[in-house]
Amino acid sequence: MKLNIALLAGDGIGPEVIDQAVKVCNAIAVKYQHDLNWRPALTGAAAIDAVGDPYPDETHEICASSDAVLFGAIGHPRFDNDPSAKVRPEQGLLKMRQKLGLFANVRPTFTFPSLIDKSPLKRERIEGTDLVFLRELTGGIYFGKRGRKDNGNTAYDTCTYTRKEVQRLATKGFEMAMKRSKKLCCVDKANVLESSRLWRETVQAMEKDYPEVTVSYEFVDAVAMRLVQWPKAYDVLITENLFGDILTDEASVISGSMGLMPSASIGDTIGLYEPIHGSYPQATGKDIANPLATVLSAAMMFEDFNLTEEAQAIRDVVNRSLSEGIVTEDLADGEKSYKTSEVGDWLAKNL
Ligand code: IPM
Ligand code: MG
Repeated sequence: MKLNIALLAGDGIGPEVIDQAVKVCNAIAVKYQHDLNWRPALTGAAAIDAVGDPYPDETHEICASSDAVLFGAIGHPRFDNDPSAKVRPEQGLLKMRQKLGLFANVRPTFTFPSLIDKSPLKRERIEGTDLVFLRELTGGIYFGKRGRKDNGNTAYDTCTYTRKEVQRLATKGFEMAMKRSKKLCCVDKANVLESSRLWRETVQAMEKDYPEVTVSYEFVDAVAMRLVQWPKAYDVLITENLFGDILTDEASVISGSMGLMPSASIGDTIGLYEPIHGSYPQATGKDIANPLATVLSAAMMFEDFNLTEEAQAIRDVVNRSLSEGIVTEDLADGEKSYKTSEVGDWLAKNL
């Protein structure tokens, strides 16, 4: 298969972890005879510095004309500590999601047999967890009307959803549930919010089209609690943008390390694949960041091209690296640790 892949390394540790994913993908390309054409482009603080825009038009053109986007991380402390900054790296991410129509963010949560005791949660509660969040990504409070009034003394952000937006996200949820254990949980706050009532009503109306799927409706606060109490209760969860942002960070605790969790953002055409961790500024340039979340995001990319064997090969070699202790310092427990680049080399070689 010939694939054009836009390569957006971004900020902080982004470039370092992306390098390792590229090594792994190139090894896959050799092994399975694919032709990968990498198309680097600027985004985030790096793009602000270069051209004053965190998601320049040129980058958008490269992404929109590629088959997929592999993304590192975005964000720089210089902007975090300056609430008055007019342009922020994160705006690039939001603009990119919107312009590429990436309305669903897929965030799986699973455990790694060799790392189960890394999680702050008890083994018996998390062992065997295998759930996936589908977070709506281009609507809700992230994109609603916001502003200040009363001379800046009152601020507001609004959460708006249309039935169509809910339907297209829920359709992905039902489809995913059909491929898994046919269980879908709709997470909302329908006891308070009108937008949540629209979500619930829309999903309820869709149930008849998927008679095999059992749907539950749960309030977001209760899900926040049950998620760490008994994550095995869940399989596919669908939710709106902000609830999904919060719950998916919470869910990453189950796996024991944020450095391991991949994600995909999908729409009707192109997909974007990125680790869920951020730009980890303190580690920038030190060759110590854990590249596995990015490598596993690349596995999700192959999966979406129906290259199932390739995806599985990546997951297998990642599991082998973990059980053989070829890990970065965050997972080393004071034992011997490896550099980011060494882990990447090992994975590529052992594929
Ligand atoms: C995420 C991040 C982003 C979000 C930020 C960086 C804008 O937290 O991808 O979850 O809130 O969506
Ligand atoms: Mg987040």
